[in-house]
Amino acid sequence: MQNKLMTLVAQTAKQGKDQALSALQPARYLKGLTKAQVGRNKTVLVTGASSGLGEGMAKLFAKLGYNLAICARRTDRLEQLKADLTELYPDIKIAYRVLDVTDYDTIFEVFNAFAKDFGQIDRVVVNAGIGESRRIGKGRFETNRRTAEINFISALAQCEAAMNIFRAQNNGHLVVISSMSAMRGLPKHMTTYGASKAALAHLAEGIRADMLLTKLPIKVSTIYPGYIRTEINTNAKPLPFEVDADTGTKAIVAAIESEMVEACVPSLPWSIVGHAMKHLPLNVVNKIS
Ligand SMILES: NC(=O)c1ccc[n+]([C@@H]2O[C@H](COP(=O)([O-])OP(=O)(O)OC[C@H]3O[C@@H](n4cnc5c(N)ncnc54)[C@H](OP(=O)(O)O)[C@@H]3O)[C@@H](O)[C@H]2O)c1
Repeated sequence: MQNKLMTLVAQTAKQGKDQALSALQPARYLKGLTKAQVGRNKTVLVTGASSGLGEGMAKLFAKLGYNLAICARRTDRLEQLKADLTELYPDIKIAYRVLDVTDYDTIFEVFNAFAKDFGQIDRVVVNAGIGESRRIGKGRFETNRRTAEINFISALAQCEAAMNIFRAQNNGHLVVISSMSAMRGLPKHMTTYGASKAALAHLAEGIRADMLLTKLPIKVSTIYPGYIRTEINTNAKPLPFEVDADTGTKAIVAAIESEMVEACVPSLPWSIVGHAMKHLPLNVVNKIS
């Protein structure tokens, strides 16, 4: 009993140390994990892996030794990514499949086919998303509906498909890519986008609560990225605290690897900004959005 308690205390202390290092020095933290090849014989499934954060995460997971199950609509890009990563890391297995996440039945087919290919899926990153949204009441319902559908309903289907697999395996790590815009209701073109990402974060928290209740050993992480320069914001003017895709994906993968329950990334300044956003008056939040 005493030994069990000591082990638990030691594990908790190590996790706390890992999480602090992953947040403050993600590149250094990932260097250690690369050396240890923590992903060896494990498989990570990433949706929306054809560009931006999904592509960046796939590259970093490959470097850590993970096998990759990647999907998106632009398979030419996935094919190129597979070729590049196979050359760099010949020991890992990479499979790609075409997936339009608005086709819900296909999400289940693709995830199950990957599970069959690899025998086990250790982590699923629900990443595919779009940034199009417009002011409410200006005749752009179709644009807003599509954003809500892809960023939330399609993400719900991906969570369902992932959790089916994890429940059957009795283990797994579900990761959802939300956004700092989920912290508060936001104006202008951010209203529906932020609402869809807030709904996704709540969904993930509910799944996490269910895992606690049922004592299933499935972990759930919610990542809240700040502004990271990718195709989603390609035409945007300079954005507050923006970082390049390389810096952003390192912060995301470090947070995922340290199994943070929730992480604002990059941690500085976004964990502080997130706290402020939750508590400041709405007209002040408007100024930083
Ligand atoms: N960059 C940021 O500042 C930022 C901040 C917060 C959150 N995020 C979130 O991070 C995630 C990745 O965004 P990103 O910045 O990497 O943008 P991105 O470069 O535009 O990547 C979006 C990815 O989603 C995929 N996708 C979009 N619609 C899809 C569909 N119908 N079916 C399947 N895949 C689809 C795209 O693949 P195909 O087009 O090939 O299908 C692409 O791989 C998104 O959920 C986004 O909301 C980004």
